[in-house]
Formats: sequence, structure tokens, C-alpha cells
Amino acid sequence: MKDIYILGIETSCDDTSASVVKNGRTICSNVVASQIDIHKLYGGVVPEVASRNHVENIAGVVETALEDANVSISDIDAIAVTYGPGLEGALIVGVSYAKALSYANNIHLIGVHHIKGHIFANFLDDENLKPPFLSLIVSGGHTHLIKVSDYNTFEILGKTRDDAAGEAYDKVARVMGLEYPGGPKIDKYAKNGNDNLKFPRIWISNDTLDFSFSGLKSAVLNYLNNCKMKNIEYSIEDVSASFQDAVVEVLVGKTERALKQNNLDTLVIGGGVACNEGLRSAISTMGKNNNVNVHLPSKILCTDNAAMIAAVGYYEYLESNFKYLELNAKSNLNLNKV
Ligand code: KG4
Ligand code: ZN
Repeated sequence: MKDIYILGIETSCDDTSASVVKNGRTICSNVVASQIDIHKLYGGVVPEVASRNHVENIAGVVETALEDANVSISDIDAIAVTYGPGLEGALIVGVSYAKALSYANNIHLIGVHHIKGHIFANFLDDENLKPPFLSLIVSGGHTHLIKVSDYNTFEILGKTRDDAAGEAYDKVARVMGLEYPGGPKIDKYAKNGNDNLKFPRIWISNDTLDFSFSGLKSAVLNYLNNCKMKNIEYSIEDVSASFQDAVVEVLVGKTERALKQNNLDTLVIGGGVACNEGLRSAISTMGKNNNVNVHLPSKILCTDNAAMIAAVGYYEYLESNFKYLELNAKSNLNLNKV
């Protein structure tokens, strides 16, 4: 059978990325232009600034992805682009560029759900991985437990009712004076701290797989404000370790419960928070204890990238699920309606 080359384009938040993936499993190139250095000046992602930077970066990033893969646009079988969820203005840049490229070169166009991309990133790291499995997606915008029954059947078992895990990390880090994105910094400090502050574990109730992180975030912020008001020095290492343990315990506990309830023995993770060392190690231990096959993708495939979008594109290509010029960015795109 002929090899299928998909060009992936991702601009849903603050990374401009393009990638060429062969047959849904082999990365030929994966270019990521990060805007972190710009957004950290503001303490977080500024949507309008993100959109402008995507406009500046997109053409060069796509060109480099084709060059790195040693292919030309005429070798591409389909262009897969993230069309939601994410920042509306940022998504529009990628979608418009993909539509123009597809129209001008007469190449199939495919619209991809961003969270589906985080799940499919796992196929790029392990060619033997096949559904069914459970996926835990934890990022700056999402915290989802999703049952994947086959390449096109997804069921959301639980999700956050307020803040995403990464959002809570970034907010706590900001109050401790750490630069955006705070997740990796808290992860580092946590290694040298102790969980002696015993922040609350928010389980909501035993019969839900939903998450909630805003109460934990408030408890940490109250502790920090109290220390500041009373001029008490706090240990950044201990606050980091205590916050991280509270997040990880709930993430891993609900994941374990979802595996058991759904009789699944394979787990994949994804999203920026899946880079977290504390989470990776606790998930691995839980997997070993329960005879669950755990897939931890490499860190470059956990954070936003276009290779994961191209990986989804391949399976949509096999289903001839093509879109045309009517494809539009959808900031609140629903996973079950893709
Ligand atoms: O998936 P991603 O690149 O973008 C979104 O789709 O949101 O995730 C970015 C998020 C940020 O909140 C960042 O702080 C968090 O992932 N993150 C981490 C770590 N690395 C990135 N959080 C905790 N520990 C880490 N090591
Ligand atoms: Zn993401």
C-alpha cells in the first residue's frame, strides 16, 4: 500500500506547530515555535498576542516542517488542522492557513479536535498501541478521563468542573513569584520538598469521576497570603510538594477507579501536565499494582505539537472524513460531536 503523508497544523494556544507524519505512526518532522518567552512577560497567555505571533510564525513553521521531512507539498495526502477547542483567534490562524494551503494545492482538508490529538500522541511513541484503553488528558486547558473504544469512539468519563490541573499549577506558581508556565517549576521544587502542609484532596464524591481543582488552589493561595501577611517565611519546596501531592493523589485515584469500573487494562496519558515527574511516577506505580499497561509519551509529545494532530488526521483520512472551505474555528468544540 502507498505511504500516506499527513501535514498537521496546530495553533490552539501559544505554540505554532507543523509536522509531517507517515501512516499515522512515524514522525518525519515536528516543528514547534514556542511563544513562552513572549507570554511570560505578562504572567500567562495573552490571546491577542498569541494570534499575532501565530500569523508571523505559521508560514515559516509549515515550510520548515516540509523541509525537515524532505517532502514537498505535492507529496502531502491531507492537511489536518486543529479547529477546537482553544483560543478562538489563535485557532483561526491555523484553520485559515490550512484552508488556503488545501485549496491552492487541491489537497484534502481534515479538522481535528485538540484533545483527540493529545490522546493520539501516544500512537507516535508506541506502534503496538491499539484501543481499547483509558486516557488521562491533563493540560493547561483540560482535565479529562476518556474511554477510547476504537479510533473513532470516545466517551468522556470525567472532567474538571472548574480549573484545569495545569491552570491550577500556573496560578499557584504565579503567586509564589515563578514565571509562566509554572507547572515545570513547581515540579522541580517539589522534588526537594515534603507534603507536610496536607492541602485538601478534592474527591467531590465517590460516585463521580469529575475533578475540581479550584478549592485546592484557593487553599494554597490562602496559605501563601496568610504567610505574607504575618511575615512568615514559607518553604517554596514544601508548598510545591504539598500542592503537587494533592493534585497527583486525586488524578491517580480517579484514574485507578475509572480503569476498574470500565474493566480496562491499558492507560495512556497526555497534555502538558503529563510531563510532571510526580504524576508519571505515581501513575507507573499504580499501573504496576493493578497490572495495567501504562503508556507515558515522551515530553515533547505531551505538550502541544502538530505531530499529534497529524496522527489523528491519518485515521480521519482512512475514513474519508474530509472538510471543505466551510471549516471554521470552534473555541468550545465538543469531543463527541467531531
Ligand atoms: O498541553 P499544553 O502544552 O497546552 C494546553 O493545551 O494547555 O499544557 C500546558 C500546561 C501548562 O499549564 C504547564 O504549566 C503544564 O502544562 N505543565 C506542567 C509541567 N509541564 C508543563 N505541569 C506540571 N508539571 C510539569 N512538569
Ligand atoms: Zn494541549
